[in-house]
Amino acid sequence: LKRGGAPLAFLAAVLAAGAAAARADVRGAGQLRHMSFAVNDAPPSAEEARRFAAGEVTMDELVAGWLAGEAHRGRIRRFFHDLFGTQDFGVISAEHVLLRKNALGIYKLPDKPDCGAAESSAVPAWWLEPGQTVKVCNNILSPVVEYGERGKPGYASCTDANRIAEPRCGCGPDLILCAPKESSADMAQDAYVEFAERGLHMYENGRSWLELLASDQFYGTRWEYYLLLWRGWMSPAGGAPVPADVERLRSLPLDRRGLTRYPESGPERAPVVNGINFMFQYNNFRSRVRILSERLLCQPINPALNTDGIQSFVNPDLKDADRSHGAKAGCSACHHALDNLGSTLLGWDNQGTFALAPPSQLGHAFGQTGTGPRFLMRSFVERGPGFRQCMARRAWETFSGLPWAELPPTDQRAFEAMAADGPRALLRGVLTSSALRRVR
Ligand code: HEC
Repeated sequence: LKRGGAPLAFLAAVLAAGAAAARADVRGAGQLRHMSFAVNDAPPSAEEARRFAAGEVTMDELVAGWLAGEAHRGRIRRFFHDLFGTQDFGVISAEHVLLRKNALGIYKLPDKPDCGAAESSAVPAWWLEPGQTVKVCNNILSPVVEYGERGKPGYASCTDANRIAEPRCGCGPDLILCAPKESSADMAQDAYVEFAERGLHMYENGRSWLELLASDQFYGTRWEYYLLLWRGWMSPAGGAPVPADVERLRSLPLDRRGLTRYPESGPERAPVVNGINFMFQYNNFRSRVRILSERLLCQPINPALNTDGIQSFVNPDLKDADRSHGAKAGCSACHHALDNLGSTLLGWDNQGTFALAPPSQLGHAFGQTGTGPRFLMRSFVERGPGFRQCMARRAWETFSGLPWAELPPTDQRAFEAMAADGPRALLRGVLTSSALRRVR
């Protein structure tokens, strides 16, 4: 009878140990899974799970490996897409300037007569490497891109729809007014991922928030730069880009992204707010500022954005209707801040085209008066109320899946301090923090 107790006690001990081990395993596996999703947007591989469970690799080692991997780059792209990504509007230049190949493989324009080999030539084009040529119908070869004098009767731009059919009009030098139809999908796709790729580039190269959001540098492919030239300036204003801008265009690779200055001719441009898809999706200056405030300051348009209590509109070209409603009691609390921020973007229409006769782009942002989109973006980064907290909060909530308010204040302060050093310091800081490691 005495002997009966021992196996039972033994069994109970074995069961208890097993349960504790199972709990520890579940915790370890849960942490592994959570960390893998935070860094990679994907579960751990079976091999990683096995090695981690067997104690062959530590969490630090796994995270270090993941941070250097391809899946992590996808995760970072998605972070920036969530910040300022847009829907895919499939924006292209315009159908009437897209070149199609005829049965002989010669490019023609849809609104001009087709041609045979005898009426074609081999010419250079902006999307080719130097020395390469492409076969085109002679009727598109005219270098005329506009005729008459701007602002005078009889003036016409060949970029206007239907105008290119006119015999005087052609694709211009290096076919600069036209683009191959089969590449329009590349253009649309490149413009769609513009900000996600820009974010990844700045993250990987340790750049600042200002370089990400407010610099004079464009980051993208040649297709995308072309779209920028085309949509923002060539249509409907007409005229070919200046040689320096064509050089910038040609300096960019077709199948990779590169950094170059925004076009120097035409209006000043900034990242985000002058993105082609962005301007389509947020189609007036107020909605453009509203989304900036939501994404960069984590708050809707509200009276607190009027940090110095300005009670007037600084831009002389704001329409009377805008002024009168904005200055009404009850409306001005938001609109003095909103319209003064937004008037830095005056002149960009709902399609992302800049006005032929540009209005003033004077504005007032968080206590300072300045001009144009780069001033606006710089103001959000440098003086936007709560910018750093907002970036820290986004990073934490994105990677942990938990509300900022539940994070201990010491961790909050630590992440805000990291945010001062730019996107890489912040995102890496959160991903390698003990606060994140504690989350299951
Ligand atoms: C709480 C802040 C707030 C207050 C108060 C406010 N507005 Fe606005 N208003 C906005 C925001 C934000 C937008 C831009 C919305 C968008 O397009 O995303 C806007 C846009 C507008 C527009 C432009 C709509 C368009 O289609 O372009 C008008 C007109 C306007 N508001 C009038 C008023 C009037 C009149 C009042 C007072 C009765 C008022 N607002 C009070 C925040 C406010």
